[in-house]
Amino acid sequence: MIVAVGADHGGFHLKNNLIEFLEDSGVSVHDLGTYSEKPVDYPEFARAVSLEIMKDKADKGIVICGSGVGVCVAANKFPGIRAAICHDTFSAHQGVEDDNINVLCVGARVIGHELAREIIKTFLSASFSQAERHKRRLAKVEQIEKEYYKEVFHG
Ligand code: RB5
Repeated sequence: MIVAVGADHGGFHLKNNLIEFLEDSGVSVHDLGTYSEKPVDYPEFARAVSLEIMKDKADKGIVICGSGVGVCVAANKFPGIRAAICHDTFSAHQGVEDDNINVLCVGARVIGHELAREIIKTFLSASFSQAERHKRRLAKVEQIEKEYYKEVFHG
């Protein structure tokens, strides 16, 4: 499995910690920055991670900012991206099993490194249930994306 990881300055230290954990667990990581504590803008990292998934260069993504909110808002603007903030393990596995999330958003100023590791482990080991009711609901989510992206961008 290939996981794309990106963070703003608020998530820089947690990103490094999680990458070490992922690599020790045998996961291939694409580290898309940021690479220092220097203030940067979170949409750039949500963009980089989302594009890796859209272009099939990564299977799943992890985005980190101070709260998890900014990167989540930005990642969900990309077609085909289903991003959610998960600060507990229940949401991390149910978000994949029911809602097929492909990007996990974490707030480095909200949870500690150990809990973040547990959540990441749960997120990566979960799989979509393929249950008909969840497929139906996701098809409706996709339909919203198709209808309104078309309306907004193509008139
Ligand atoms: C940056 O200071 C902060 O706004 C950002 O990391 C994030 O929490 C936004 O949601």
